[in-house]
Amino acid sequence: MAKIICVGSVNVDITGYCYAVPEGGETLAGDFVKTSPGGKGSNQSVAAHMAGADVTLIAKMGTDAIANVLTDFYASVDMPIDHMSRTEAAGTGIALIMVEKKTAQNRVLIIPGANLELNAADVYAKEAEFFDNDVVICQLETTFEPIMAAAKLAKKYNKPFVLNPAPYKELPEALWSMIDYITPNESEAREFTGVEINNIDDARRAAEVLLSRGVKNVIITLGVNGVFFKNAEFETHVDAIRMNAVDTTGAGDAFNGGFITAIGEGKSVEDALRFATCTSAISVTRKGAAASMPTREEIEELYSKHFN
Ligand code: RIB
Repeated sequence: MAKIICVGSVNVDITGYCYAVPEGGETLAGDFVKTSPGGKGSNQSVAAHMAGADVTLIAKMGTDAIANVLTDFYASVDMPIDHMSRTEAAGTGIALIMVEKKTAQNRVLIIPGANLELNAADVYAKEAEFFDNDVVICQLETTFEPIMAAAKLAKKYNKPFVLNPAPYKELPEALWSMIDYITPNESEAREFTGVEINNIDDARRAAEVLLSRGVKNVIITLGVNGVFFKNAEFETHVDAIRMNAVDTTGAGDAFNGGFITAIGEGKSVEDALRFATCTSAISVTRKGAAASMPTREEIEELYSKHFN
């Protein structure tokens, strides 16, 4: 079983499903609203947990009642949360999301709240957890303080450090060379490199720029065009699996959770990309973020149908 540490965010997602998205100054009636567990750190942790990993999530919630949406959910999927903490200094992170029913695409506004209170001391307090882990992952919904601490501990104990650079922020220079795997989507890759990605050649050029900054392995997720991988010796592309999408919220998180689980189990990169592709493909067929993550059996079933 892969042992994973995630230092990241937790949010409660308040999602309105609508027929059309209002423009500035416009008011439209939507269809229905759903309150559900989210946050990129939490979603990726849940994806890994559902895929069979042993996950340590280091994150911070508020002491408010809305945090129960998260704790009730973790209890319902038997995910331990012994390493999460609470603060009175801010409310639990909230994401206001609109999902357009026709396209399944989302627009997300985050109020980070307690996620910004997660600090280096919170991470160092869990140093013992890093000793026998397989993979450490972070995203960019916290400040860089806990991320740098997680990266330093990953390096200290010689564990692969994965950064999902979402949502995009320029990285501190010292972080680049600590990243073993970076997993931007097309728009994040474009922000980092200036390369507009319309095809695999563009993805390769963007990956080369990211490698030149000191990252060891680059994985660019390309939506319906699959995923592109490149390091100094090898590159590959895995096609997306076409599914009937109803909600793409958390699809990138599903991919990351699946990838770290597979890498943590010692699978090859090619195999891990396929496993992650299956995880993400199933997640878009269901509403919500954390609640849409597939079980190990579901991932393996799609994997054997699609790749064997
Ligand atoms: O990646 C999807 C997530 O982004 C949502 O769950 C929302 O909370 C935001 O963090």
